[in-house]
Amino acid sequence: MKKEIANFDYYNPTHIVFGKNRFSDLADLIAADKKVLILYGGGSVEKFDTLSKVREALNGRTIGEFGGIEANPTFETLIEAVDLVKREGYDFLLAVGGGSVIDGTKFVAAAARFLGDPLDIFGNGVGASKPVKEALPFGTVLTLPATGSEMNSGAVVTIKSKKAKVSFGSPVTFPVFSILDPELTYTLPERQLANGVIDSFVHIMEQYLTYPVGAMVQDRYAEGLLQTLIEIGPSVVDEKNHDYNLRANFMWTATNALNGTLNKGVPGDWASHSLGHEITALYGIDHARTLAIVLPALLTIRKKEKFDKLVQYAERVWHLTEGSNEAKVDQAISNTGQFFESLGAPIYFSAYDLGEEVVDALVSQLEKHQLTAISERGDQTLEVSRAIYTEALKSK
Ligand code: NZQ
Ligand code: ZN
Repeated sequence: MKKEIANFDYYNPTHIVFGKNRFSDLADLIAADKKVLILYGGGSVEKFDTLSKVREALNGRTIGEFGGIEANPTFETLIEAVDLVKREGYDFLLAVGGGSVIDGTKFVAAAARFLGDPLDIFGNGVGASKPVKEALPFGTVLTLPATGSEMNSGAVVTIKSKKAKVSFGSPVTFPVFSILDPELTYTLPERQLANGVIDSFVHIMEQYLTYPVGAMVQDRYAEGLLQTLIEIGPSVVDEKNHDYNLRANFMWTATNALNGTLNKGVPGDWASHSLGHEITALYGIDHARTLAIVLPALLTIRKKEKFDKLVQYAERVWHLTEGSNEAKVDQAISNTGQFFESLGAPIYFSAYDLGEEVVDALVSQLEKHQLTAISERGDQTLEVSRAIYTEALKSK
């Protein structure tokens, strides 16, 4: 049966403020009468002077600060910020950091206006998944290109007490604006740069590598972004390479990878993310590095279901035009894994000293979080997920 592009709405209200030295724009981006809470992470923005530039731009305003949001932000920490917002009456939030700080700020913005138990913002067996209808306005200053959180309305939060990493999203949790200054990436270490390239790559794959529906714009857009990452990835991870255009292209690719453009009218997978989040929740491995473990294994196990798109990926992204379709697909999957490894991210559990004991533990987490029928057709059962985790145990 011929597949069609599904109906869609395209709504993205985030004002992108891109380029060098845009901090002074903050004074215009945030109304003068707002009481602003600046939220940040473990101290990188203090160390590298980003925070002092923000403070300077907001000189004369009533501002407060909340630091200490962890990588993989926890509900337990964020709820303290929610209390602070309510107690001191802030009416604008400013996230200064990477995806964790931005996601954390989205949760604070929503929870500060949420009636009832803030855990109910989440689903997946953690809360009642009640819709977020209202949130405080917030802006962001992005310091790490990776998640796309600076231009989307989703957030991922770890509930420490439940060993769960869960997400929520709402049309009211788009940032009002995001400052994207590529020069802020110059202080990133190689590991975070690699994480950014891989996370962006997998975001594109989650929305592209499903089954064809004839969406030419979405497909070509995805293929262009993937090829950009393959081209610049090896230079991006060189932490000493401060070429402005290199970092500018990296930053804009990461934003476009998950700003709601690629997924319009096409199926989405997101199983690599579901399986990856469980790995982070149990073993603390960086988000992107969990994806490097899962995606090559998932493409191997799901080859049959994804075959048509895998052939397209092989031909258009990796320029594999010789041999049988089967051979092209195998080579494209292998190239994908090698690309991650070339950036310094292992693709097997064994590199983290994890063995077959992880499979049962991770599958039971998926079950607990109701992730029993995932992927673009809802046909990725726990048994299929088990096969994917098992495939990822193997080392060469
Ligand atoms: O905490 P600080 O001290 O600021 O240090 C951070 C952190 O240790 C550091 N860092 C950030 N900018 C820096 C810097 N160090 C030097 N120079 C800079 N300019 O980098 C470390 C990692 O930061 P983090 O924000 O955790 O990384 P990332 O942006 O990769 O975010 C990961 C989180 O986002 C979620 C992930 O699950 C994870 O919790 N995701 C959010 C998504 C979304 N909202 O759409 C989608 C993604 O798939 C992802 O799930
Ligand atoms: Zn991701």
